[in-house]
Amino acid sequence: MRRLVGQVAIVTGGGQGIGGAISRRFASEGARVVLAQRTLPVAEAMAAQIRAAGGDALAVRADVTQRTDIDALVARTVEAFGPPTVLVNNAGIAVFQDPLTLTTEQWARCFATDLDAAWWLSQAVLPHLLANGGGSIINIASVHSFHIIPGCFPYPVAKHGLIGLTRALAAEYSARGVRVNAICPGYIETQNVVDYFATFPDPAAERIRCGGLHAIGRIGVPEEVAGPAAFLASSDASFVTGEALMVDGGMSMVLNGHGLPFVPGVGPSGMTSGVDATATGGS
Ligand SMILES: NC(=O)c1ccc[n+]([C@@H]2O[C@H](COP(=O)([O-])OP(=O)(O)OC[C@H]3O[C@@H](n4cnc5c(N)ncnc54)[C@H](O)[C@@H]3O)[C@@H](O)[C@H]2O)c1
Repeated sequence: MRRLVGQVAIVTGGGQGIGGAISRRFASEGARVVLAQRTLPVAEAMAAQIRAAGGDALAVRADVTQRTDIDALVARTVEAFGPPTVLVNNAGIAVFQDPLTLTTEQWARCFATDLDAAWWLSQAVLPHLLANGGGSIINIASVHSFHIIPGCFPYPVAKHGLIGLTRALAAEYSARGVRVNAICPGYIETQNVVDYFATFPDPAAERIRCGGLHAIGRIGVPEEVAGPAAFLASSDASFVTGEALMVDGGMSMVLNGHGLPFVPGVGPSGMTSGVDATATGGS
């Protein structure tokens, strides 16, 4: 399918993981894609892969918690490909910490990346979408946007907020052609998740156990998020706005206390409380 011909998409964290799969998929559907990444070589490698496959891609170094980087990213996009028509707020970090030992800095870092950046990017891109008569913003949220899983504080607080941002912007701008939606993945096999499994004595067993938390019986792969993102960016989703699409293999359906035995200090998904997972969040 070539549903995104003529679109110019910015994908934050577009060089790896879920963002990498979205970048590849968007390019394969005809979009010109700008991959924003904190570490340029990571984005360059993915952009080169896309170009080798015949797509259009540009790598830009940008820390999405810095407004100057955001402004430069949008300016670079306009210069290279023209005004952006699609924004994917994918960059995110997982901060999991016992609430009482969480530092002010950890809270701020989580919110800066998982919520503030999505708003700042939206604020920078919206004038271009409105000037074009419309466009699409896609926020990569989480199952944690609707469910509080103990041991994961404050990540779900920020991801709940991301749904609020999605709906508020959809309410403000849908009548002017800008659709704003969210995707809520379950466990997706990115490097972070593989590294997390590796912390267990038997990583393969943990992988299977996590798969069992999903109704579908396995964890997902990044391409299974990229497909729904391409749908939301395309005119196939022309009547879809303010939506939070669960892409979680049915995890949220079966999550409500069933199948997730809660162990104090450990949490239901086996994630150890007290670990600041900000090391995860890639390059
Ligand atoms: N993998 C999962 O199981 C899963 C599940 C639900 C939601 N998510 C969400 O999906 C998104 C992508 O996660 P992923 O699993 O692919 O992890 P990942 O670490 O591979 O991707 C996160 C990306 O965000 C980028 N990033 C982080 N902070 C940044 C910053 N300040 N500036 C620019 N880029 C920054 C990283 O460089 C990386 O490219 C995140 O928002 C995450 O919360 C992932």
